[in-house]
Amino acid sequence: MAFFKNIFSPSILAADHAALGEGLRTVLKYNLSWVHLDIMDGNFVPNISFGPQTVKDLRKIDGEIFFDTHLMLVRPDKFVEKFIAAGSQLVTIHVEPNYDVAGTLKKIRELGCLAGISLNPDTPAEKARALLPLVDLVLVMSVFPGFGGQAFIESAIPKIETLAKWRNGGEGNFRIQVDGGIDATTAPRCLAAGADTLVAGTAFFKAHDKPAFIAICRGEK
Ligand code: DX5
Ligand code: ZN
Repeated sequence: MAFFKNIFSPSILAADHAALGEGLRTVLKYNLSWVHLDIMDGNFVPNISFGPQTVKDLRKIDGEIFFDTHLMLVRPDKFVEKFIAAGSQLVTIHVEPNYDVAGTLKKIRELGCLAGISLNPDTPAEKARALLPLVDLVLVMSVFPGFGGQAFIESAIPKIETLAKWRNGGEGNFRIQVDGGIDATTAPRCLAAGADTLVAGTAFFKAHDKPAFIAICRGEK
């Protein structure tokens, strides 16, 4: 049975975009091992965030923290190389657009990076099943991607349970990440369902007591 230590990965999407480096510095203050980078193309999702150059410049601020990179792109296959060169250590791609998902996952691993797949709230877990041997992480979206600050969608819970059941049954060896509407109420529910890697943007940057919020997201409280 797979065992993963819980990880909290704050999203700097919720930081000031004129000072993203400050957002990263805030994360670094709390000695977190991961940071979540949300990349949006204005096509797969109705919003645009930032690109490989920004990732590369963020990498100059700190060379250690793990860059958990969530690509919300219609053609992630065209960009994985650029993000890996920029310093990403995990590249997560969505299964919904029309491109060679399996081939892109293989390419990510060949380039020495961890590979993840992401499922929108209305995409069934079955869509990930055949790909499980190719991935290090499955990202269950608990909002429709595009914006921070949205409410958690309940369909994520049974999907986490299904993925955890498959993983416990020996189908792959992947983390289960949840992204969207994670706060002090939804985080424990996701962990109880079998998730081990939680992303939060709004709730992290708004939290007055960040160490307490981090502990909740790691299941330590
Ligand atoms: C949504 C992004 C999320 C987002 C989460 O498209 O993938 O990572 O930043 O934001 P919150 O925590 O505000 O829901
Ligand atoms: Zn994300």
